[in-house]
Amino acid sequence: MRNGRGRKGTWIAGSLLALATLAGAQTAPMTHEEAHRRAEALLKQMTLDEKVGQMNQSAGVTIPGLGSEKPDALITQGKVGSILWLIDVKEINRLQHLAVDKSRLHIPILFAFDVIHGYRTVFPVPLGMASSWDPSVEEQAQHLAGQDARAAGIEWTFTPMVDIARDARWGRMVEGAGEDPYLGSAMARAQVRGFQGTSISTDSILACVKHYAGYGAADGGRDYDSSYVPEELMRNVYLEPFHAAEQAGAATFMSAYMDLNDVPATGNHWLLTDVLRNEWGFKGFVVSDAFAVGSLVTHGYASDPQDAAYKAAMAGLNMDMASLTFTHNLAALVQSGKVSEAQIDAAVLPILEAKYDLGLFDHPYVDESKVDAVLSRPEGLTLERKLAGRSMVLLKNEHQTLPLSSSLKKVAVIGPLADSVKDIEGGWTVEGLFGGPSKSHPVTVLAGLKTRLGAGAEVSFVPGPPLSRLYPSMFDEMSGKKPLPPPTAAETADWVAKAKAAAEQADVVIAVMGEAADMSSEAASRATFDLPGIQQQMLEAAASTGKPVVLVLENGRPLDIRWATEHLPAILEAWYPGTEGGNAVADVLFGDVDPGGKLPVSWPRIAGQEPLYYNHNLTHEPEDRPGFTSRYWDISSKPLYPFGYGLSYTSFKFANLRLSSKSIQKSGKTEVSVDVTNTGRMAGDAVAQIYIHQRYGSASRPVRQLKGFERVTLQPGETRTLTFPLGKDELSFWSPQTKVWAVEPSTFDVWAGEDSTASLHAELTVTE
Ligand code: NOJ
Repeated sequence: MRNGRGRKGTWIAGSLLALATLAGAQTAPMTHEEAHRRAEALLKQMTLDEKVGQMNQSAGVTIPGLGSEKPDALITQGKVGSILWLIDVKEINRLQHLAVDKSRLHIPILFAFDVIHGYRTVFPVPLGMASSWDPSVEEQAQHLAGQDARAAGIEWTFTPMVDIARDARWGRMVEGAGEDPYLGSAMARAQVRGFQGTSISTDSILACVKHYAGYGAADGGRDYDSSYVPEELMRNVYLEPFHAAEQAGAATFMSAYMDLNDVPATGNHWLLTDVLRNEWGFKGFVVSDAFAVGSLVTHGYASDPQDAAYKAAMAGLNMDMASLTFTHNLAALVQSGKVSEAQIDAAVLPILEAKYDLGLFDHPYVDESKVDAVLSRPEGLTLERKLAGRSMVLLKNEHQTLPLSSSLKKVAVIGPLADSVKDIEGGWTVEGLFGGPSKSHPVTVLAGLKTRLGAGAEVSFVPGPPLSRLYPSMFDEMSGKKPLPPPTAAETADWVAKAKAAAEQADVVIAVMGEAADMSSEAASRATFDLPGIQQQMLEAAASTGKPVVLVLENGRPLDIRWATEHLPAILEAWYPGTEGGNAVADVLFGDVDPGGKLPVSWPRIAGQEPLYYNHNLTHEPEDRPGFTSRYWDISSKPLYPFGYGLSYTSFKFANLRLSSKSIQKSGKTEVSVDVTNTGRMAGDAVAQIYIHQRYGSASRPVRQLKGFERVTLQPGETRTLTFPLGKDELSFWSPQTKVWAVEPSTFDVWAGEDSTASLHAELTVTE
């Protein structure tokens, strides 16, 4: 059944009813078939203007610099299908009343917002959640976020972002699941399940898979820049998580901003119609990214706004986000015969269906009295702390520096992020999005450490100067805020001396450093990966005392931590861990939680290595052989830490890799099994990872490709046998020569282990 409406229930299903009661909604008994029938009937009553109205998503707030107006007049004329960027529930209800009471056909508005990693309870940023290598982390987080959003009047979120990011200069890496299509697909499916549940109803919100497609391949890692991606790379890598999300039933897609191979994604027929609808059978609707229809003129693709509306509609776009280009031009295009009314009908139908599926016609309003109770549910914070702990990656731990002893008496905490409430939750928080006050109470690392250590310990704190930057962040720019200037030489010397003095007095130093939350994400690319500001100087000063320094990173992309890797005993990657982040960091630092996360990206040494990814082809002898090889003369071309890497407080042994059949026909299947043993003295989490390589065929294939993974908790001494399938889904690829997906006869290497450099090996033969 399409759109996942017929999928079997997941563990989540049971809890849906409870929230529906809490939020005052009732489950809608409507089947999708009924929704479809009603949508068709409604469409028959609509004028052309009303149809075009459903294809318009208006801005619900005035955004400085972007000139959006209040949508009241358009709403009463039936010219607004959806509204975005509005979370004030009173205003949501007011506008909904306008639509339901005052517009001719009383069609409710679909309210949309970027609920990216939580509503009031903010979960780790998506790159962090992907580091858990546990799709249930995403599913649980997005389920709670979706419930919160629905109770607060948001029925549609612009999530998941499933763009493959092979280049950490690109700021939006933080919003996705990293570089790998297999891991990214698993995280994409989990998020769709989390938001939409088993079927779209009064209890779910619509997911929106973005940014379709190829956005992460931006030239030079500069956000919005052109992408040039050949079809084989699109199909084998960039499109994979989109397809996975579509198969999982995602109701909506968002077209990307950039040109894909010179054709803007928002006017790209190949993407929006040939692949999405004709090949994959997508039956939902596609919204453009904000202002992207109007921007087709900026791209030099459309001659004027009417041409932009024409090209976007003909490519297969259903809804125009915020540019009003459809509103002002589509009806004229129909009247002149350039666009048929049947095309408009086809574009509008899935929008109306979604409104029926969601139960909006029966329950259009928010119960304002219940919103706060839902958003402040304590179970949200408990869940967030647990998921944040599962998302952290231990990069280094020498001399058993970690876990820390609970009886520490003197701890120095240094770094501008250690007590920064606005950074611990990362970017794209709902309540803080337009600089609004967040009603969550984020726990910083400093606060978490103090709570964990209790009154018996002395905790000193040297923040250093706030992080400065060349340009203001996107939101600061909109509100006219200037970036802070860098510290003077005298201020720098003073902070560095203070960091050193604090370290001298302490038993251990916890340095909480990285990037401010707005230094990654949209319009936040970087050309260097150094620790911004004077963080590096403070770190070196603290380490020069000989005291153990633990570096806790808060960041949205890998950074240049070569010095730290060489000189510090312990490094914990916390990403932006969310509302309970500080407590979760303390849980891991003190060993209450074993760090079991793994890197979803290859960690570069410096920015000059980018794009850097493990699943590349081998086009010459490998780097470590003598002779002419593909390498730099000034630095290793290998990552500092490989894809899939992460330590634990215990150790694991992988053994006995075996295949149920060592030779299969190309239509066949085999199973790969491996025994994983906890060889240490603590319980801990291992992530078993399976990689393959096709040795020859109709095209060169990557040196390794992830094709299976599972995160398991093992007690000391415990052995678990894990089994993974290898068949059509894992072995096939889209060949640029045959132009089809197929399994080819070949020899395949199979590896199992703890990261993408795993050495435990087996061989599989695939015959005709
Ligand atoms: C622009 C961003 O690219 C996209 O990710 C977001 O969902 C929309 N704006 C709406 O806020």
